[in-house]
Amino acid sequence: MLRVHDLTRRFGRLTALDRVSFEVAEATIHGLIGPNGSGKTTFFNLATGFLQPNAGKVFWGDREVTGLAPHHISRLGIARTFQNTSNFANLTLRDNLVVASRNRVQTSVLHRMLHLGSARSEEADHGRTADAILERFGIGHLAHTIAADLPGGTQKILGVAIALATGPRLLMLDEPLAGLNPAEKVQLMDILRSIRAEGLTLLLIEHDMKAIMQACDRITVLSYGTLLAEGSPAEISRDPATIKAYLGTEAA
Ligand SMILES: Nc1ncnc2c1ncn2[C@@H]1O[C@H](COP(=O)(O)OP(=O)(O)OP(=O)(O)O)[C@@H](O)[C@H]1O
Ligand SMILES: [Mg+2]
Repeated sequence: MLRVHDLTRRFGRLTALDRVSFEVAEATIHGLIGPNGSGKTTFFNLATGFLQPNAGKVFWGDREVTGLAPHHISRLGIARTFQNTSNFANLTLRDNLVVASRNRVQTSVLHRMLHLGSARSEEADHGRTADAILERFGIGHLAHTIAADLPGGTQKILGVAIALATGPRLLMLDEPLAGLNPAEKVQLMDILRSIRAEGLTLLLIEHDMKAIMQACDRITVLSYGTLLAEGSPAEISRDPATIKAYLGTEAA
């Protein structure tokens, strides 16, 4: 569903991403791994319109979306989280999710026309969506807490919940497990697997190799901006180039 062809991005003399091509298949969890600075976040920024490529193309289904603005790409059904920043409006968890739900992709103009005059029930729908997601992420008891007052790990979980509340078809998560405690990690990975089971697609940047190997259907490995390997977790975990560049030092 998301496909990139020869995607290239330079920063001055550094080529952060060098002719990278791969495809994320629908209803899979696809891992994007590689050493620090290998171009993973740059890939996310290019695919979601936060950066423009120097060369190459991005396709969403049959449609070329190269260079579209972030808000345009998100309206097509791609949601993402950011590696370091969690920037929440000064709202409760529940209200953050209600706002995200109001931005749902599915609430099309047609949808609104069919529900003419039922703005109140639409608002109730957003409330129900928010409550369901709070429960699903195990943060229902925090519904009325101001998001900025949460501990870091819970803020990261909320970031994923907010992305999901926008009703995407593809969820791109940049190191969602960083800063979570072991119990939170297990819980979030269970949630991600259940999201995939419902037909959503996930593209996951993550350094936690245990989680990656357990959850992913397919893994793409970057090294110095180039595509080093791609395959199933079993294939990647015994790929000599990947072990040399990454697994040997970080996870073996
Ligand atoms: N806006 C920018 N300006 C200049 N250089 C950048 C910019 N963004 C990224 N880079 C450089 O591009 C390279 C790839 O960075 P990127 O953030 O994509 O790596 P990453 O794989 O996400 O690493 P990490 O695992 O540490 O998050 C790095 O050398 C980085 O310093
Ligand atoms: Mg990164």
